[in-house]
Amino acid sequence: MPRMEISVFSALLPLLLLAFVNHGLSWAWTAPDCNIGDSSLLANLSYYTPICSLVPGLYLFASCSNIKDVIQTLRAVPHDREALCLQGMVPILPPNAFANFFSLKLLRLQLGNLKVTSKTFQGLDQLQHLHFEHHAPCCMGLFLPSDALEALISLNDLSFQGYCLNYSQNIQLPISLTCLTLRHSCLTKLQELQEIFSNLVPGSSNSVSPRSLVSFLEVLDLSSNLQLNQAGDGALHSLQLHSLRLDSTPLSSIGLLGSGLLQLGFLSLVGTGVKKMPGNVVRYFALHALDLGRNQIQDIWDPDLTNYHSLELLSLHDNGLQSLPIKFLSALPQLQRLNLSMNNLGSTLVLPEGLVSAKLKVLDLSYNEFCNLPYGAFSFLPQLQELWLGGNNISNLMNGTLEGLMWLKTLDLSWNQIKVLNPGWLSSLPSLTSLNLLGTYLEHISGKQLQGPHKLRHLLLGSHDMLDIYPPWPPELLSLEVRAEGVIQFIVHNEEPFLFLENLTLQTSNILFHTTVSDNTTVYFPSLYHLTLRGISSYVFSSHQPQKFFSQLPRLEHLHFWSDHMDTDNMCLLSMPRLQVLELGDLNFLSEFSLVKLEMLLKQVPQLQVLALSHLNPGTLSMSTFKDLGHLRLLLLNSEYSLGLDSSLQELIPQMPQYVYFSDVTFTCQCKSSWVGPWATQAPNTFVYGLEKSICMANTSDYSRTPFVSFLSDHCPHDPEFWVFLISFNLILLMSTLALFGCPKWYWLHYLQNLFHSWWWKLCGRGPRRQLYYDVFISYCQQDKAWVLKELVPALEKPPPIGEGLKLCLPDRDFGLGWDRMDATVASMETSRAILCVLSCQALKSTWCNLELRLATYHLVARPAVARLLLLFLETIDRQKLCSYHRLTRWLQKEDYFDFHQGMEEWDFFCEQLQRRLREAGQERED
Ligand SMILES: *[C@@H]1O[C@H](CO)[C@@H](O)[C@H](O)[C@H]1NC(C)=O
Ligand SMILES: *[C@@H]1O[C@H](CO)[C@@H](O)[C@H](O)[C@H]1NC(C)=O
Ligand SMILES: *[C@@H]1O[C@H](CO)[C@@H](O)[C@H](O)[C@H]1NC(C)=O
Ligand SMILES: *[C@@H]1O[C@H](CO)[C@@H](O)[C@H](O)[C@H]1NC(C)=O
Ligand SMILES: *[C@@H]1O[C@H](CO)[C@@H](O)[C@H](O)[C@H]1NC(C)=O
Ligand SMILES: *[C@@H]1O[C@H](CO)[C@@H](O)[C@H](O)[C@H]1NC(C)=O
Repeated sequence: MPRMEISVFSALLPLLLLAFVNHGLSWAWTAPDCNIGDSSLLANLSYYTPICSLVPGLYLFASCSNIKDVIQTLRAVPHDREALCLQGMVPILPPNAFANFFSLKLLRLQLGNLKVTSKTFQGLDQLQHLHFEHHAPCCMGLFLPSDALEALISLNDLSFQGYCLNYSQNIQLPISLTCLTLRHSCLTKLQELQEIFSNLVPGSSNSVSPRSLVSFLEVLDLSSNLQLNQAGDGALHSLQLHSLRLDSTPLSSIGLLGSGLLQLGFLSLVGTGVKKMPGNVVRYFALHALDLGRNQIQDIWDPDLTNYHSLELLSLHDNGLQSLPIKFLSALPQLQRLNLSMNNLGSTLVLPEGLVSAKLKVLDLSYNEFCNLPYGAFSFLPQLQELWLGGNNISNLMNGTLEGLMWLKTLDLSWNQIKVLNPGWLSSLPSLTSLNLLGTYLEHISGKQLQGPHKLRHLLLGSHDMLDIYPPWPPELLSLEVRAEGVIQFIVHNEEPFLFLENLTLQTSNILFHTTVSDNTTVYFPSLYHLTLRGISSYVFSSHQPQKFFSQLPRLEHLHFWSDHMDTDNMCLLSMPRLQVLELGDLNFLSEFSLVKLEMLLKQVPQLQVLALSHLNPGTLSMSTFKDLGHLRLLLLNSEYSLGLDSSLQELIPQMPQYVYFSDVTFTCQCKSSWVGPWATQAPNTFVYGLEKSICMANTSDYSRTPFVSFLSDHCPHDPEFWVFLISFNLILLMSTLALFGCPKWYWLHYLQNLFHSWWWKLCGRGPRRQLYYDVFISYCQQDKAWVLKELVPALEKPPPIGEGLKLCLPDRDFGLGWDRMDATVASMETSRAILCVLSCQALKSTWCNLELRLATYHLVARPAVARLLLLFLETIDRQKLCSYHRLTRWLQKEDYFDFHQGMEEWDFFCEQLQRRLREAGQERED
């Protein structure tokens, strides 16, 4: 290592550090007013923190609010986001505003009156969804130049909500577009669309070339345009659409006939005040689907029905409909889905004689006040697959009610007055897979009553107060949800009644498992993957319970547990070796012991990746709370009162989870949390959300609502040690960044970069497992070489009883000829169980020794669970002189320092400690 370069480097260091800290401020994960996350980690994340509403399949999001300067805000957002939601007041979206967001697929902008430039969306060639939104009443102004969307070659969904587009003319739509939405705009005529979008309608005066036509537009959504009342002649001339939504617009559907639309499959006229079925429109377009929900169609006349033979889907949801005409279904020979929910079809389902349909697959009759279902009510619908009867007043299902439904898969009878189920009531439903009986008055359900279907997979059962469930259980159940306010009692006959059950949700105050096999049998859920419990006392997880409920959950990965009982004693999660996601809420850990209990619980689930704690009030969190959770990727604290973050937690900074969220947390105003401020803004490996919004309280009667962050900066002195820590933490980042910028002369930076990378990968828990070749890597300087080779090496290397029989790595001896020393050092430290630094005054003057000590320290900081470092002092040295002194004091224990000059006693102690450390390292490996 050329000494010159090191000194050049140290001369430049302060400057570079300054530059980096400035750069780092905006580079850190914490982004003011932004929430950044990965919604694949916790499906319920949106319940606690604002997230970007996503489309299925997108997980990495950033959601920022109160934006005034987009560029500045985006600087703090990682570039790998798939979805970005931006809210604020921004007059102009500058060119290349999103150029670094290569993976962006969804962009939702709520930025007020807005001007977009031609080059704003440059670089977004993966973007699929672009939404401009404004949620107050109409309308904001938006200026889009005609070529603004040109760069968006993958865009298929473009939406404007609450914007007037009359300032923007001739916008060229990307040809990949399939769905265009214009809601709450100031559109008055359909014709105006031609002027706004130059290539929407073929042959409109402004279209550039026929080849750039949007010929594949499938969905046009013009809902909630309150002034849209005319079409205009030939407004949509020769446009071919699949779907048109005109919900809540005053445009009468008759107007559509002259619009020039060539083709239309689906028309939605929800909430338009329609009183009559629009038969002529259906016939004109030969519509396949028509949604007339929330209108006032109270009667349907037989003569109207001549026009509907093309319909496959019809929704008359919420219309006050009182009866169906006799020939209703025979006039709709193609109908597959019929939605009649929320009407007044009467107390007895009077199905007109003509209710025969060979094709109907889905029938929704929920919320119609039915009390009785006649014998064979649905026998004319042989193809029915889904029958929705929820929210009626049905109290009794007679044997033959469901006769003839050979292919029925889904039956919803929830929220009815059902008190009894006759045995065999399901016998005519051999194909049933999902049954919903939530909200009934049943007190006993016996497996016999569920016999008939061969493959019942999904079952929901609910009663008002108590529910006893008797076997035999449907053998292939995959998901089960049971609710009853008071008690749920399971009576179990055989040992493995839930062999395939994957999802179990229980909502009740008490559950009892009553086994008849023998008293000590526990109920076994060998396949359970997802367990949700609400309201239940934690004794279900008690280690002291003679009859354990969830005593073995070998495959459980998600546990969501909200209790509101007081008894958290002995709660035990030991039976869940694969638990990854743990959400705990409302567990009243009795105040002073709460933290201890929480710590005990967390020790039992070391594989945890996601931990969400809500209303637990654990008090002051410290290093010991989390130190065993090496795989944690997300930590969420919600609605916690007087939370403290002890200074010992900063030890864990390098291993902190990727995401830490504080939602509605009140801290205690204490300076031992002073590290939190710099950590949240500077530590680049963790995204911290919600600190700016949190307040703190000095004592229980402090209602001043002091913002926590400003308390820390006003009242607490900066912890100099923490700054040293952060700066060196950033230093290693800096060095790797520099190497990325390519400073060819500082070639050794490259190795630090490698080190940093491998370290980074491991922090993220994705690193390959290390192969260990050596027991001990020994670092020493040339001046001490003689002693090392003559004394130390034989003592450690010779087989017992003469020596310790260890496999050593000595750079001078074991590095191959022509190996790069830096490279080999990093690699050998990685592949050794322990590192031993031999230190003397001379060693401290040696650049190499210092560098090796530094590398060893980083290695230790990065992987405290695995790395072992021992320091052997050949002479008395002021420890403050060690280059990594501060970090070493933090990470090493007293037993890891040895003063060799003190004689033989110390030597034995050293060998003992070395062996102990090696054994520990070995155990960590095997875990
Ligand atoms: C999300 O969490 C809240 C409690 O914090 C709970 O009430 C709600 O049911 C959860 N949602 C889901 C979908 O689990
Ligand atoms: C755009 O429409 C709004 C609302 O109808 C109107 O107030 C405004 O004057 C229009 N602007 C232009 C340039 O036509
Ligand atoms: C019927 O329509 C209502 C309102 O749109 C909807 O919520 C419901 O899911 C529909 N039913 C079916 C079976 O699709
Ligand atoms: C319904 O059928 C079961 C067995 O199939 C029979 O035991 C029961 O008596 C029947 N109930 C009525 C009301 O017909
Ligand atoms: C179990 O629940 C998860 C999460 O809610 C869901 O994704 C999965 O499809 C469910 N599995 C079954 C068999 O219902
Ligand atoms: C249940 O207890 C009996 C004796 O009390 C014992 O022989 C049997 O092994 C126990 N069974 C289980 C599954 O623990």
